[in-house]
Amino acid sequence: MKTVLLTVLAVLVILFLAAMAVANFGLYDVAASTPDNGFVASMLRRTSHRSIRRQAEGIQVPRLDDPDMIKRGLIHYYEMCVVCHGAPGVKPSEIAQGLNPYPPELAEKAEPDEAAEFFWIVKHGIKMTGMPAFGLTHSDEEIWAMIAFLQKMPQLSPEEYQKLVQEVGLEEPMPQAASGEAGEAGEHEHEHGHEH
Ligand code: HEC
Repeated sequence: MKTVLLTVLAVLVILFLAAMAVANFGLYDVAASTPDNGFVASMLRRTSHRSIRRQAEGIQVPRLDDPDMIKRGLIHYYEMCVVCHGAPGVKPSEIAQGLNPYPPELAEKAEPDEAAEFFWIVKHGIKMTGMPAFGLTHSDEEIWAMIAFLQKMPQLSPEEYQKLVQEVGLEEPMPQAASGEAGEAGEHEHEHGHEH
């Protein structure tokens, strides 16, 4: 009995040291540009799914079909989420394309039964992914408005999305052409002006 216990203990110590060696000698490739090893990837996915499902249990979902609430959600979504998750007719940006895991295009997703989990995800974020925790900066009410918009978004055509964007007073369909590039175009002009 005693030798069995000692053997088990020795094996555990060796496994622990092996794990420490992999970490300490920099043997695991953390590059976002290479996919995770299949086993690691599936363990991470499982860990994440189960954790979210468990922690979202018991969250009470309010009514999400109020048009004003959906519009308030759109304003937040447009400002903070399109860059990574895209929108009807709008592809995720270059920032999103470099992320691993890749952010899902939410215009093709939201099911009503995902509302509680999505609320939890938006409020708390997901470690070791690009998904930020918006609960640090937003009230539950604001986050529910975003979830209301997420539920609505898959039903919107690109035209309907643009129309709604204009209705709530956001000008451009996507920050892409708007803010950043205007400044850059100016600098560009300055640098290469003589070439034209
Ligand atoms: C910097 C990029 C980034 C931004 C900005 C971002 N997300 Fe995410 N989001 C991600 C990534 C990456 C994932 C996938 C994480 C994973 O696979 O575990 C994700 C996952 C999600 C999911 C889960 C989707 C699913 O099918 O499981 C929801 C819902 C979500 N984000 C909503 C939002 C909302 C709403 C906003 C804006 C308030 C937002 N995200 C902003 C990167 C981002």
